[in-house]
Amino acid sequence: MRTTNKLQGTMNFEFTEEQIAVRDAARDFAQNVLKHGVIERDTHQRFPADEIKQLGELGFMGMMIDPNYGGSGMDTVSYVLAMEELSKVDASASVVVSVNNSLVCWGLDKYGSVEQKQKYLVPLAKGEKIGAFCLSEPEAGSDATSQRTTAEDKGDYYLLNGTKNWITNGGSASTYLVIAQTHPEKGHRGINCLIVERGMEGFMVGAKEDKLGIRGSDTHTIMFQDVKVPKENRIGEDGFGFKFAMSTLSGGRIGIAAQALGIASGAYELALAYSKERQAFGKPIHEHQAIAFKLADMATEIEAARLLCLKAAQVKDAGENFDLESSMAKLFASRVAMATTIEAVQIHGGYGFVKEYHVERLMRDAKITQIYEGTSEIQKIVISRALLKD
Ligand code: CAA
Repeated sequence: MRTTNKLQGTMNFEFTEEQIAVRDAARDFAQNVLKHGVIERDTHQRFPADEIKQLGELGFMGMMIDPNYGGSGMDTVSYVLAMEELSKVDASASVVVSVNNSLVCWGLDKYGSVEQKQKYLVPLAKGEKIGAFCLSEPEAGSDATSQRTTAEDKGDYYLLNGTKNWITNGGSASTYLVIAQTHPEKGHRGINCLIVERGMEGFMVGAKEDKLGIRGSDTHTIMFQDVKVPKENRIGEDGFGFKFAMSTLSGGRIGIAAQALGIASGAYELALAYSKERQAFGKPIHEHQAIAFKLADMATEIEAARLLCLKAAQVKDAGENFDLESSMAKLFASRVAMATTIEAVQIHGGYGFVKEYHVERLMRDAKITQIYEGTSEIQKIVISRALLKD
């Protein structure tokens, strides 16, 4: 399927038995484990620690990682299928899965040294430890090259100083991939990515954010004051850190696109079921065209988002450059998540406005998918640059 001359490859619509098994296992876990307590975790901002431990035992925390390094050796399509199912029920848990899988494990697997993989990747991929990705700063969000955090080269170690904001898993992680500037005169080519362990002297976890959505996830400011990070903890060559961040984020965006897809399809399924139960003017509300047309729009847009997510995953699995496809998937799926969840609340009427019916939470959770791992505006920069190149 070729849609623009910048999009590549063919698309296979058939899932393998393994992919179906992964999807079903994720669905089972979401419906039977995550659903229990999801409202309470959201209300009290409680991190799903037990649930994440179980997801690790089931192989969902290092899905795309080589089994030799503790992973499950699955493809990105399986990852998208699992992310959709988990996110239908609990986007707070699924963002932990997404960050650990694609921003931390995948980056370490692709660019880390053998020693770094043995020491850090194995426990992360097994889900015994949780990882965090530290790029954003108080004054560097979308403009990610303007890093103020410094990693001064001191010979056999880097001296790390600075503050990182909005760090998912900030309070629960053990391993932090930290982007920092070593050679300011070189701009983005002077940036490095360092593996930092919680507990290193000078490492501090700041206050937990009180958020609109994904309230069960654990978002913190992280501070570094004269943290000595051994040289062997730098990922790649000196100055590779910004490209590491961009490449890793490109894969992460497929995870967030699939999360947005799951939030949308979860809300749609709830609205569909409700529209069959709820009677108004003497018949189920889905028999009113006003509701039936909403369901038609929701289902159509969700299917289009799903195809974009799977397309991005297939291009990545084929070993091609997937920057364009992942940004398109994230831009579109997050828009669909927002629009669909608003309509799902509307279909539920007053019931949609209370926690018990889940859709208000999905609506709050949807918003972040248009912001993190690159805002929608950033995705349009990536997409338009790719389309206009050459
Ligand atoms: N892979 C590898 N390298 C890449 C790349 C990619 N996908 N994209 C860009 N690069 C390289 C470029 O080749 C360039 O290198 P050279 O100059 O050596 O050729 C370098 O990176 C800089 O690229 P640009 O000139 O395009 O940089 P820019 O300043 O114009 O910014 C941007 C590009 C796309 C806007 C980028 O800054 C960006 O993505 N910003 C958003 C950051 C973001 O997504 N933050 C999310 C925070 S993490 C998070 O949310 C995680 C969480 O906890 C949930």
